[in-house]
Amino acid sequence: METAAPTAVTVAIDGPSGTGKSSTSKAVAAKLGLRYLDTGAQYRAITWWMITNGIDTDDPQAVALAAGKPVIVSGTDPFAPTITVDGLDASGPIRTREVTAKVSAVSAVPEVRVLITELQRSIAAEAADGGEGILVEGRDIGITVLPDADLKVFLTASPEARAARRSGELRGKEAADLAATKEALIKRDAADSGRKTSPLAKAADAVEVDTTDLSLDQVIECVVTLVEEKRAGRK
Ligand code: DC
Repeated sequence: METAAPTAVTVAIDGPSGTGKSSTSKAVAAKLGLRYLDTGAQYRAITWWMITNGIDTDDPQAVALAAGKPVIVSGTDPFAPTITVDGLDASGPIRTREVTAKVSAVSAVPEVRVLITELQRSIAAEAADGGEGILVEGRDIGITVLPDADLKVFLTASPEARAARRSGELRGKEAADLAATKEALIKRDAADSGRKTSPLAKAADAVEVDTTDLSLDQVIECVVTLVEEKRAGRK
């Protein structure tokens, strides 16, 4: 039986939004030759499909019934990650304020989580079998999706720092002022942390990195070091 290459590590990065999770994850994966999976984009993609197909996202039964219909495909190149729904490029539409406002309700529906979790596990297994390994970022990766991940990192930051970063990411007509961004972010975190199925939480064996006073480069460096240590330990 073939064993995975020593570099084929599986890395789980969890944490709330505004902690630098996506930028850090992409950069670390690119630097270390790992595949990259943005699981938030998948929950956003299914939410976008629900909206465009007239499903009431506040009706968990309607969402559950429709959950198996869209075909979501994630491209895992960290230099150019992609996401399509039924063959359509969803990378722009999934970042609108409407999708952001509705994604917590859709992602709290257990049927949605089961389907998306299966998809995530198959993508991670394929990357491990291919010998490249993968970095998967989300909310429940270390605890639920990949409890056997080689390395688990949990990123945190103060609410103020997170709201400032999110505000900086928003562009044009989607841009909101800092206070509104902070309010929306705290509301979404509370929903994501308080839901019954797979809430946002730190795994007991995750390494916590508080990014409040760190630059993006410092966070990247810190996670790169953690992955390299893990790889060295597996050789
Ligand atoms: O990381 P993000 O902001 O793009 O994630 C969007 C939403 O998706 C987030 O509010 C909660 C949900 N999500 C989830 O429930 N589980 C994940 N593994 C990733 C995201």
